[in-house]
Amino acid sequence: MNGDIERIIYDEKSLAGVVERLAGQINADYQGKELVVIGILKGSAVFLADLFRKLECSCTLDFMAASRYGSGTVSKGKINITKDLTADIRGKNVLIVEDILDTGNTLSYLKEYLQGFDPESVKICVLFVKPSRRTKDISADYIGYTIDDLFLVGYGLDYDEKYRNLPYVGLLKSEIYQ
Ligand code: IMP
Ligand code: MG
Repeated sequence: MNGDIERIIYDEKSLAGVVERLAGQINADYQGKELVVIGILKGSAVFLADLFRKLECSCTLDFMAASRYGSGTVSKGKINITKDLTADIRGKNVLIVEDILDTGNTLSYLKEYLQGFDPESVKICVLFVKPSRRTKDISADYIGYTIDDLFLVGYGLDYDEKYRNLPYVGLLKSEIYQ
């Protein structure tokens, strides 16, 4: 285990099981339909790589990036789109894939932005939700885990751009961010 990690919260087996369940739900809902999957960089990259390979509908992949966190563990105010959509989503079914729905600032902004292109539908798939920190009226359609207000790293999730490569999701030792 990485020496900066206090303990593992979700191991590889648990994550694989959750990805399997989410893919099953998405496959059932979009059977026979076309889907544009939009991964939100960078946090969703590892989760999305696993999820996308389990999707069975006809789907395309695009990415967006939005800046939100600096090096702290507390959410900052404004959202900036730092990488925009390249796909034409007018009339399409869109699935946003994101790592965490925390305060909801990022996803409510991005969902509204995407709805401006007049898609057929926009749904959200997240690996984690932290309900206790929600400030925006937004919910996810596909949820991996509902968690307490803990700062997690690994499996794509970072602290100061690090730890995304850990194959598990863990709790960082408090001395790392204090
Ligand atoms: P929101 O806009 O407050 O909902 O923030 C969502 C974004 O904050 C996520 O996409 C993550 O990038 C980041 N974030 C929130 N909680 C965590 C965490 O526990 N670990 C790593 N990143 C987090
Ligand atoms: Mg993120």
